[in-house]
Amino acid sequence: MTVYRRLLLYLRPYLYRAFLPAVVCMVLFSATNGVLPFLVEYVFDDIFADKDLTALKTLPLIIILTFSFRSACNFGHIYLMEYVGQRIVEDLRNTLNAHLQSLSLSFFQRHPTGTLISRVTNDTLLVRQALTQATASMMRDATTLMVLVTVAFIKDWVLASIAFIAFPATILPLMRIYQKVRRLSRKGQGSLGYLSALLQETIQGTRVVKAFGMEDYERQRFAAENHRLYKHAIRAGRLKAFVPSMVELLAACGIAGVVWYGGMSVIEGERTQGEFVAFLTAMLLIYQPFKHLTRTQAAVQNGLAGAERLFEVLDECSDVRERPQARSLSRFRQQVQFHDVSFRYQEEWVLRRVNLTIATGQVVALVGPSGGGKSTLADLIPRFYDVSEGQITVDGTDLRDLTLASLRSQIAVVTQATFLFNDTVRNNIAYGLPHRPEEEIIAAAKAAHAHDFIMALPEGYATQIGELGVLLSGGQRQRLAIARALLKNAPMLILDEATSSLDNESERLVQDAIEHLMVGRTVLVIAHRLSTIQKADRIVVLDNGHIMEEGPHEELLARNTHYRRLYELQFRAVPLSAA
Ligand SMILES: Nc1ncnc2c1ncn2[C@@H]1O[C@H](COP(=O)(O)OP(=O)(O)OP(=O)(O)O)[C@@H](O)[C@H]1O
Ligand SMILES: [Mg+2]
Repeated sequence: MTVYRRLLLYLRPYLYRAFLPAVVCMVLFSATNGVLPFLVEYVFDDIFADKDLTALKTLPLIIILTFSFRSACNFGHIYLMEYVGQRIVEDLRNTLNAHLQSLSLSFFQRHPTGTLISRVTNDTLLVRQALTQATASMMRDATTLMVLVTVAFIKDWVLASIAFIAFPATILPLMRIYQKVRRLSRKGQGSLGYLSALLQETIQGTRVVKAFGMEDYERQRFAAENHRLYKHAIRAGRLKAFVPSMVELLAACGIAGVVWYGGMSVIEGERTQGEFVAFLTAMLLIYQPFKHLTRTQAAVQNGLAGAERLFEVLDECSDVRERPQARSLSRFRQQVQFHDVSFRYQEEWVLRRVNLTIATGQVVALVGPSGGGKSTLADLIPRFYDVSEGQITVDGTDLRDLTLASLRSQIAVVTQATFLFNDTVRNNIAYGLPHRPEEEIIAAAKAAHAHDFIMALPEGYATQIGELGVLLSGGQRQRLAIARALLKNAPMLILDEATSSLDNESERLVQDAIEHLMVGRTVLVIAHRLSTIQKADRIVVLDNGHIMEEGPHEELLARNTHYRRLYELQFRAVPLSAA
């Protein structure tokens, strides 16, 4: 029951403000049910019998007042419950999102985006139902039930024992059923998450889907998952339908027992007919809330399943954590050093005992075959991942002893694949720096050779560029990313050159923009262009996680080993000797 208790924490802020008032409204509303019979009795016995005209005149007023009160209570109950529910969903979503923002890259690689989105959007809804509707109705029905059962036992404990003897026996199977409902609900929610992931993937990859004529395949893939979701739901549905039937059957057994035993005792004169009928009526009253209770239990189980999935995310800790005594990095002056750094994502080592020094103001180019670990090495500096072994230091301090914010504020990252937000051009350039003056933004755009094409857009800097920047060309996107890094003006730059080549003109512009960006900074560049490596102070050849050699371009070429082979393969179409 810890999940439930944990959930109740989210109810707490609204307990006195809204939840309890809602419960009070509900109780008062139900209480007016009790007034109605009295009203009827009053009409018949007092007004009609005494032919009391004045009383009859006040009667409509009483009716209207009673029903006004009733309506107000009803409104209060429904509205306040809705309020609590919506607030809790809002809080949960915010908490989840805040937590997601704090998690490290590795978490997002383990979980497809769609499934996480589904947790934030769908599971929170289930939780809302469990917490508000179900809790409230449980309170109401459980109270009614307890009162009625107590009354039944006080009135006639023998008959009550006969009536309810079967009920304890149902508790175990019911619990088993609810466990199953919860498991199915969990599976269903998992399926729903997977479905969202599929949908997201095919919508984002629609170009590839169409190009390869895979619409049918994607349709089938979706239908198959959708059917799995349906099967979980229908199995849960069957169980849910089974519960009231089972309860009713049990009730029938109880009633049969009462009729048989009670009837005998009436015939034998031990009970009066009135007592017997009164008891039967009480029993019929009892089954209603009991049935209701079993039904809301199903909603509770769904909600708990949702809550379990939410708490799973909330319980994830970022594996890149700030140490409590972490200090702020003042502007870095000397060097970034890798000391015997090894790294692995899972089992396999991706980097092995890497030693590397990047001094301030230097441009270090990282080259090597694809999959050699270049991007991985670069990701370790802003702590997108932490080293598995060894240590990386900035000016002698271990990265892990620095605050993440201060470390990352000193590094600008331009990745292999540009990421742009569905926002204006301006906000994309000024991402993270919204208060920079317009001139600086324009200056950055100019230096990145982006200003001209931005001005040609329909609304210039205010143009919305669509999801992932779909309205821009590849080269334009890259230049925007460069402008973004220029504006950040961090002392260190990590640049993962895009592998996809652009046409000559675009290529020249991007190249030139990159040169602007590198000026006066410490740069670690994963180079795919000849011009970039030629400008580097030092070249590091990374193959299969090992640093094979390092040095200036000419020197490495002259050595005629790894670098020269790579150079001839990657950076030059024609071997040097043939040139
Ligand atoms: N998130 C990840 N989880 C598991 N393995 C990964 C992950 N990212 C990369 N790898 C593996 O680590 C190795 C190094 O990858 P990395 O991206 O660093 O190569 P790279 O040198 O940048 O290649 P490229 O030049 O093609 O960009 C590869 O074998 C890759 O399969
Ligand atoms: Mg790479």
